[in-house]
Amino acid sequence: MAWRAPACRCFETMLTKCCGFKEGCKQTRLLKPDNLTSLHPSGVRNIWLSFARRYTSTHTTVDPDELKKFQAWSLRWWDEEGVYSALHSLNDLRVPFIRDTLISKNGNHELGSPLLGVKLLDVGCGGGVLSEPLGRLGAAVTGIDPLENNIRTADLHKSFDPDLDSRIQYTACSLEDMEDDAAEIYDAVVASEVVEHVGDLESFIKCCHNVLKPGGSIFITTISKTPLSYALGIVVAEKILGIVPDGTHDWEKFVTPEELERVLESNGFAVETVNGMLYNPLSTSWSWIDSTSINYALHAVKTAPPEETFSTEQPPEEEQSTPKVDAHLGTTP
Ligand SMILES: C[S@@+](CC[C@H](N)C(=O)[O-])C[C@H]1O[C@@H](n2cnc3c(N)ncnc32)[C@H](O)[C@@H]1O
Repeated sequence: MAWRAPACRCFETMLTKCCGFKEGCKQTRLLKPDNLTSLHPSGVRNIWLSFARRYTSTHTTVDPDELKKFQAWSLRWWDEEGVYSALHSLNDLRVPFIRDTLISKNGNHELGSPLLGVKLLDVGCGGGVLSEPLGRLGAAVTGIDPLENNIRTADLHKSFDPDLDSRIQYTACSLEDMEDDAAEIYDAVVASEVVEHVGDLESFIKCCHNVLKPGGSIFITTISKTPLSYALGIVVAEKILGIVPDGTHDWEKFVTPEELERVLESNGFAVETVNGMLYNPLSTSWSWIDSTSINYALHAVKTAPPEETFSTEQPPEEEQSTPKVDAHLGTTP
């Protein structure tokens, strides 16, 4: 097995950033010259490669400013009337959406445990509000979140249910931390209410592609980027009604279904379903709607390897003159 540098575990809120030479940082200790001399030369090279790749890349999926928001509420995931109440009630839509889509793809299923045999990655699982019901449906769930405190809460909560304890594994890490070990091992990836918080959407989608088996499903729920989503999602939900704390969302990071489809399709996915969702603050419940201009749920399937976006090679002469076909916008010159 390839030697891997351990991730820094001492930064106070997240695993994906090095603490910057704080006492006790594994990554830093390993990088000190006296420790380097006792390591195998290939191990030393790998430390530097991993370090350079992770911390000099502008394509990280994690945005530290976004994580700071969630750090403050890491003990509140299971307060059904607290800051995450809308996520609890969102389960009424998203759990059947994921369950029924996977059942229709997989055919045979066991009554009571329809997701038995499905290996599912819940990215940005928070305190496990979605991972748990998916585990109860029989799926073998891996929940990951860059915030260690979220994972502690999720681990503690599932430990109260012995059945879930064996079905769900939580790890504090980001997608890019797990990629090498997890290539093409999942039947489904779920990223619910996460893409509006990531650092680089394209990198995030590429990582999801890497961990999925060919033909595997990705489920995303998120908020669209429209004037209406600003009015309802930020002004009404955060500033007037306080459904979620003020500052939870940054409208600039929202993504329209068209843009998300474009990113997915240029990275080896075929989008199969996009459904609009609406939250009613009076009944504290969600319903499906036709419009995707506020919240929406999307399902796509992994079809092909992602396009090589950083190639410096020029295509052969005849290819250069071929018009480029965009799945959504038609033929462009
Ligand atoms: C709104 S919460 C959603 C939690 C959970 N998916 C749910 O719906 O119950 C967003 C979560 O995404 C996590 N997160 C933020 N950036 C992330 C990233 N780049 N990769 C994975 N998770 C991330 C946060 O720590 C937080 O737990």
